[in-house]
Amino acid sequence: MAGKIAKHFIDDLLARANIVEVVERAVQLKKAGRDFQGLCPFHNEKTPSFTVSPEKQFYHCFGCGAHGSAIGFLMNHDGLGFVEAVEDLAGLLGLEVQYEESSGPATPAADYSALYQVMDEAQQLYARLLREHPARQRAVDYLKGRGLTGEVAKRFGIGYAPPGWDALVSTLGAEPGRRKLLIEAGLAVEKDNDRFYDRFRDRIMFPIRDRRGRCIAFGGRIIDEGEPKYLNSPETPIFHKRQELYGLDQVLKRGKRPERVLIVEGYMDVVALGQFGVDNAVATLGTATTGEQLEQLYRHVSEIVFCFDGDAAGRRAAWRALETVLPLLKEGRRAGFLFLPQGHDPDSLVRAEGAAVFNAKERITALSTFLFDDLSAKADLSSIDGRAQLVALARPLITKVPPGPLRQLLGQHLEKLAGTTIRGTDEPAPPVRKPPPQPVRPHAPGRYVPSLLTRAIAMLVRQPSLAPLARDLPALDVATNPESALLVTLLERLEGNPDLSSGALLESFRDGPQASLLTDILAQPLLLDESHWEAEFTGAIEQMLKRSRRGEITRRVMNRLPPGPGPDRQPDDDDG
Ligand code: UTP
Ligand code: MN
Repeated sequence: MAGKIAKHFIDDLLARANIVEVVERAVQLKKAGRDFQGLCPFHNEKTPSFTVSPEKQFYHCFGCGAHGSAIGFLMNHDGLGFVEAVEDLAGLLGLEVQYEESSGPATPAADYSALYQVMDEAQQLYARLLREHPARQRAVDYLKGRGLTGEVAKRFGIGYAPPGWDALVSTLGAEPGRRKLLIEAGLAVEKDNDRFYDRFRDRIMFPIRDRRGRCIAFGGRIIDEGEPKYLNSPETPIFHKRQELYGLDQVLKRGKRPERVLIVEGYMDVVALGQFGVDNAVATLGTATTGEQLEQLYRHVSEIVFCFDGDAAGRRAAWRALETVLPLLKEGRRAGFLFLPQGHDPDSLVRAEGAAVFNAKERITALSTFLFDDLSAKADLSSIDGRAQLVALARPLITKVPPGPLRQLLGQHLEKLAGTTIRGTDEPAPPVRKPPPQPVRPHAPGRYVPSLLTRAIAMLVRQPSLAPLARDLPALDVATNPESALLVTLLERLEGNPDLSSGALLESFRDGPQASLLTDILAQPLLLDESHWEAEFTGAIEQMLKRSRRGEITRRVMNRLPPGPGPDRQPDDDDG
């Protein structure tokens, strides 16, 4: 896993990604012509000046100048590092990140490829044994008895660990060196010294995959009754059960991101729901839902619905989930509950009643409803003491919610129920978020005089298809003037790769020596409507040609107006 992310992979990633989907997780967007518009998440505004272009794979705010690719958005908005942002985007698309062949000394990052490899082999082995092992019939009958189709068993990679002690160890651990790896992967257990046997025996095997679809662990169900019902892989370097969600890879594989994700309790629940076309369910791995799991999910969807039994135990579990999710409910995120009829889990319910129950919005109890219903049942609202008790119970919960509309509304509702004003729940929301690291603006606003060159650059990045119009541009004075050098670099890049989107083109400059100049130029608004760009760009190139013939470009660009009180003269506007 060592090494830098391969350049070609970033191009490829941005060619496949849809920036609208990425931005939409955070910003409500409306279609406006070919683009989408919304309120800029990087500065406070009341009318939308934030534009996202699916065609250009580029976002831009006319208000504050923020701009970038899908990767840039994840970095600036979600606060991810570059590698994290690339991994996140790749995860969304179900792609495996590709790294450059590392040259020189090995980087210290741990290399788990052997572990991933052996888990993959184990998964294939168990799947094969379900089809071929002499003892397979019991397993097959059990799965059939539970109503599973072969198709869905295959989709989830379900397999069989046969009885005996060494079906896996003898196949995958034939070389002595590999046995340690089987131990590290949690597939084998060592007894006394140097006796290895299989951890999973005579169990139905559910591969647990990470969000990119790599097998990282197993849950093994006993056939029929017995203890423990499910045996799970131990924690390993690649498996941390508090961070993973069973079935997330399948949810992310869908063409379209679902409106909401359901969190259920069991592997079998996810599989059965999948069989009935409810393909937005994930399961925790035998623990209560963790904040890490929820954070992870909110990167992909804006609403999470917890599915629990309607009985007392189910409501207790739901309450725990509520406490976990409250601090994560930033603006734009929602949570709700789906309580199942007594005696059912999602597996049995979907088989009894079909998918509709799980797709129906009306069945979802809003988080606020659950919260107040539950608390109101504990306090007698007809008495002063009861209402005081309600406030005492509700306030610490409401203050867990980050400042924003939800918190304010919960506070207001509490006041209504209690019949009094309450302090502490209604802190105003702070400014949306701190300004993004870019755009960097070495020039004070208003002092930056857009030149012919910088306008051409700004148009070219936003519309890379303009590049061929500049074919005749002679060698500019690259050495003396950074804008010329930048234009030349852009043209070269587009010549080798004419289909690059704006986002991908911009991304190819990241961390390079020309990045900040480019950022600076793009932060300036382009006043001209896009329909005129082609003419404007052609005109700019023609003028540059004329000037270069007169040997003027260097002088003009280098003599850009000095910073002063507002530009009244623009160096390239006096020429035509
Ligand atoms: P349940 O006991 O609700 O089982 O455990 P289930 O999912 O309905 O399974 P079936 O339908 O009987 O086959 C829910 C989840 O809790 C974890 C597993 O992740 C399981 O899917 N669990 C349960 C364990 O890890 N170990 C156990 O012994 C039992
Ligand atoms: Mn069940």
